[in-house]
Amino acid sequence: MSAVTDHFRTVFGEEPEGVWESPGRVNLIGEHTDYNDGLVLPIALPQRTYAAARRRADGILRLSSTAGGDVTEIALHDVAPGVPEGWGRYAAGVLWALREAGYLVGGLDVAIDSTVPIGAGLSSSAALEGAVAAAASDLFGLGLLADDETRTTLAALCQKAENVIAQAPTGGMDQSASLRCTAGHAILLDCRSGHVSQIPFEIERHGLVLLVIDTRAEHTLGDGQYGNRRAACERAAKELGVASLRDIPYSHLADALHKLEHDPELFTRTQHVVTEIQRVRDTVEALEQGELAEVGLLFTSSHLSLRDDFDVSCEELDVAVDTAIAAGALGARMTGGGFGGSAIALVPERLVPSVEMAIYSAYEHHKFTKPLFFRAAAAGGARRTE
Ligand code: GLA
Repeated sequence: MSAVTDHFRTVFGEEPEGVWESPGRVNLIGEHTDYNDGLVLPIALPQRTYAAARRRADGILRLSSTAGGDVTEIALHDVAPGVPEGWGRYAAGVLWALREAGYLVGGLDVAIDSTVPIGAGLSSSAALEGAVAAAASDLFGLGLLADDETRTTLAALCQKAENVIAQAPTGGMDQSASLRCTAGHAILLDCRSGHVSQIPFEIERHGLVLLVIDTRAEHTLGDGQYGNRRAACERAAKELGVASLRDIPYSHLADALHKLEHDPELFTRTQHVVTEIQRVRDTVEALEQGELAEVGLLFTSSHLSLRDDFDVSCEELDVAVDTAIAAGALGARMTGGGFGGSAIALVPERLVPSVEMAIYSAYEHHKFTKPLFFRAAAAGGARRTE
């Protein structure tokens, strides 16, 4: 019996009707491009959030987590921006978004268990949204897990839950990764058209490991920095007379930057977004041609651009990246929103222990909290488990 089923029985005194799971993600490259209509390249992780659920006859949602805390109880018609408080808003937001879109969704009892590290920039919130969305889709017969097209609809509703109810102005990358990834592949997601291409991600054939370094530096998207970057990109697009920075082709970057010379903030943000979208294209090409050294270099350029131009890195991320490269990684970068969270490094298998040791010692030297490591594999998206 799984931990989540056990928890459901203990808290709600009944059997769940099923268990659904949805993954966290690591973005290989394409950071802060999703809300600029750009390109991103995430993989889904084997780390998952599990939701055991059972329908209720009234319009009440009850939520409980194996991580502890009180049971959240809320009438679905009371769900609103910022309500309920805490992590329950991600789950409640999904039911709200489904109902707003006209789906017939009623109350649920839901128990949650998760192996996605919280606050590590690995999309624990999208994993939670995906698990609840998957449960609601199956239990209310909505059929939204059927294929990539319906999963695209579900991902958009999960993003709406996060934007409106959890009030985080994020783009759609995380929810798309949770719902649309397939095992062994990264998804190349075009955030303007919504189109996804499945890109084989088989670095072990090249003797490489994608090492995730959870810096344990607190990561939150709610403190205004994320929204502030997004607003700067929107201002830059407006000044340049385009709908979004996606509309500036890499070949026209110099012209665009010339027009922004009077405003260093808009200049640097634009420089990051336009070059980052090009790096996603280059990474896909390098992966397809098996040029993994090139992928490593692209990771590192992405990090420098996020650090210097987009200004979303932090000391812990920079030390992890620099140390990994000095210890033999082909490249490394922060992943996710930044301001803490995790970094990734492309490391020859035999060097993994020495890269980890080097990062441990560098962290000790800087008196940072001890980091955590794991090897990332490209896993599949949300599905029914039991
Ligand atoms: C967070 C957001 C995503 C994306 C990344 C940065 O993870 O949730 O939508 O913007 O930051 O690439």
